[in-house]
Amino acid sequence: MSKPLLMIVDDEPDIAELVSVVAGQVGYDVRIASTAIEAQNICRESTPSAIITDIVMPDMDANELLQWLVEQGSAVPILLMSGYGQRYLSSAETLGWARGAPIVGSIEKPFSLTELEQHLRHLLSPEYVWSEDMSVGVDVLDADHKALFSILHHLRSDLGKKDEVEVIGKTLTNLHDYTGYHFTLEEELMEACGYPGLHAHRKAHRKISEKIEGYMNTISSSGDASITNELIDYVGSWLHVHIGGMDKAYESWMSARQNPDIEALQTMHSNAVNVSKRFLLNSGNANDLAP
Ligand SMILES: [Fe+2]
Ligand SMILES: [Fe+2]
Repeated sequence: MSKPLLMIVDDEPDIAELVSVVAGQVGYDVRIASTAIEAQNICRESTPSAIITDIVMPDMDANELLQWLVEQGSAVPILLMSGYGQRYLSSAETLGWARGAPIVGSIEKPFSLTELEQHLRHLLSPEYVWSEDMSVGVDVLDADHKALFSILHHLRSDLGKKDEVEVIGKTLTNLHDYTGYHFTLEEELMEACGYPGLHAHRKAHRKISEKIEGYMNTISSSGDASITNELIDYVGSWLHVHIGGMDKAYESWMSARQNPDIEALQTMHSNAVNVSKRFLLNSGNANDLAP
């Protein structure tokens, strides 16, 4: 059986080599790209099973590479790495999620071999990944769904970290805020389309929001993050079922082919993009990206 292919993108040869050795031990075949342009060439020749990429690189940074991967329709799980600190990594993740890049975690340089190995193993067995058959036919909503799965992955990689409860608390706040933003957007679009299932759909959104809030309260009041795995499985399964069922059901209503009000659809799309931008600005991340 062929091994999964990990593409390592880093302009620092020592780091790329180190990741390559550990990835080999974890069970990957490896290809190394020293620039984002080389990475694009590798993706044209083969389909990696996973990608680990540095953010700041000379010819094209990882944000542009992620944008390109999204445009190619890639759903390959991505791990970000950087030596510019956790705040910078978090900002890059948030920006990537908003664009629909399936980022499943990040690792700060310098990292220990154990930490690297854990991340690479996690990357090897991604669960709750968005796939093409889950598309609801509206790009911004597909991008949100990918982002929600990415945040769940991030939550899994938070487990066992130093200051675990605090780190998980931050990621949970991100999950809570992103679901809130996405549900509002989705409901606005359904309303604008005159979708008949809006009421039941809104109820389902409220229910999972309350569930997430319940988990958040339990973790913060007990100072114990041991229910995080249960939370990830609950929310991950819910997302799979909800996107594949209730969300897919509005696809035809939002399709320009079946809905004659194309102009209204276009307005909705531009409103959706504005909401995405507002989310990034409100999260305070849009200006953090310059190292
Ligand atoms: Fe929904
Ligand atoms: Fe949704």
